[in-house]
Amino acid sequence: AENRTFTMIKPDAVEAGNIGAITKMIENAGFKIVSMKYTRLTKQRAGQFYAVHRERPFYEDLCDYMSSGPIVAMILEKNNAVADFRTLIGATNPAEAAEGTIRKLFATSIEANAVHGSDSDDNAKIEGSFFFSDLEQY
Ligand code: CMP
Repeated sequence: AENRTFTMIKPDAVEAGNIGAITKMIENAGFKIVSMKYTRLTKQRAGQFYAVHRERPFYEDLCDYMSSGPIVAMILEKNNAVADFRTLIGATNPAEAAEGTIRKLFATSIEANAVHGSDSDDNAKIEGSFFFSDLEQY
């Protein structure tokens, strides 16, 4: 069914000048951009976004990294959006990401891994609403 996922182009990929190339790959894969915002996270807001990871050893570093520069947040629509987007981006660790995936092409480390992708329909809604009002989600 036609449904939605949420993504961020992370600070490493924005800094490297890869917004256009990554967005092109997303569009070429058949995703429709529903919402798009160039913005940044404070460390506190990064901590809220990644609250599910707060007990992990990498949490503090992750929040510093995610607030280190601008990001691009997007809500995307496609058949089977969550699973297909995760296939397009590849494994969390770029060393394990398949050839041709966004992380294989653009990520520099397991932390600075170029893009985020929601892991479920429920989280896609929660994460999208973290950045976009209802009126921005048409
Ligand atoms: P993301 O898919 O946005 O979800 C959580 C993020 O935490 C992940 O991408 C990485 O940026 C980061 N992350 C996950 N695992 C590790 C790890 N083992 N070490 C450092 N950062 C990690």
